[in-house]
Amino acid sequence: MDPEGSGRSPDTAPRHAAGPLRVVAVAVQKGGTGKTTLAASLAIAAAEAGEHVTALDLDPQGSLAGWGALRKEGSVAVDRVRPWEMGQLAEILGLLAEQGTTLAILDTAGSSAGLAAALRDVDFVLMPVRPSRLDIVAARPTLQALVGLGLRDRLALVLNQCPPPPSPRTSAYAAQLRALGVLAEPGIIHRVDHQDALATGLGVTEYAPGSPAAGEIRALWTWIDAKMRAAPAR
Ligand SMILES: Nc1ncnc2c1ncn2[C@@H]1O[C@H](COP(=O)(O)OP(=O)(O)OP(=O)(O)O)[C@@H](O)[C@H]1O
Ligand SMILES: [Mg+2]
Repeated sequence: MDPEGSGRSPDTAPRHAAGPLRVVAVAVQKGGTGKTTLAASLAIAAAEAGEHVTALDLDPQGSLAGWGALRKEGSVAVDRVRPWEMGQLAEILGLLAEQGTTLAILDTAGSSAGLAAALRDVDFVLMPVRPSRLDIVAARPTLQALVGLGLRDRLALVLNQCPPPPSPRTSAYAAQLRALGVLAEPGIIHRVDHQDALATGLGVTEYAPGSPAAGEIRALWTWIDAKMRAAPAR
């Protein structure tokens, strides 16, 4: 981890009322479902909503860190945790809390290696899946591991890269997941604004603030925030 980070300097940091650090991981044992895309845009949306955010890239692939390197303004700090630093994740998060981070968003690799250790102490796990049976079935091992870690009330699947409505298949998967109490809402529709935002080092709420994509991301952050606040104490 680079203690300087690639983001905000203390002089320009927006101040936030002191409070405990909350940690949101974006994780699922399946590649390409939108973990990095959602982690980046949720980090920005949360910062716009008043959080003091650090986005941490736990994926050796480094996609989130690459996005952070493109950013020109430092409203969100972006840093990496290397595979050999994973054992110190709790200490790293403690340091961020001391430095005033109120929300850490962890982007993780699309594999199970080291996932459980990374997720043990998080406040919430968002699991992006595309509305397809293969993605939803592939999410089960992650889901079971999280339940085993006591995170049953602190996880949700979000349907991402959904076709524009009406989509009976998407609605059917949403209904199934909602009935199980594990659906984050709203679902996120496949829109090029997400791709263009990430390509320019922006969150979608910065890239296209008035767009439907931005509205969905803001609403998803609001949903996650409320869910964490409502979750029983651990
Ligand atoms: N809602 C969306 N609309 C349009 N494109 C999207 C959306 N979400 C993700 N994508 C695209 O899907 C691809 C995979 O997204 P992303 O890299 O965020 O997934 P990932 O889960 O982080 O992948 P990996 O497992 O490799 O880390 C990218 O090309 C991204 O631009
Ligand atoms: Mg990724």
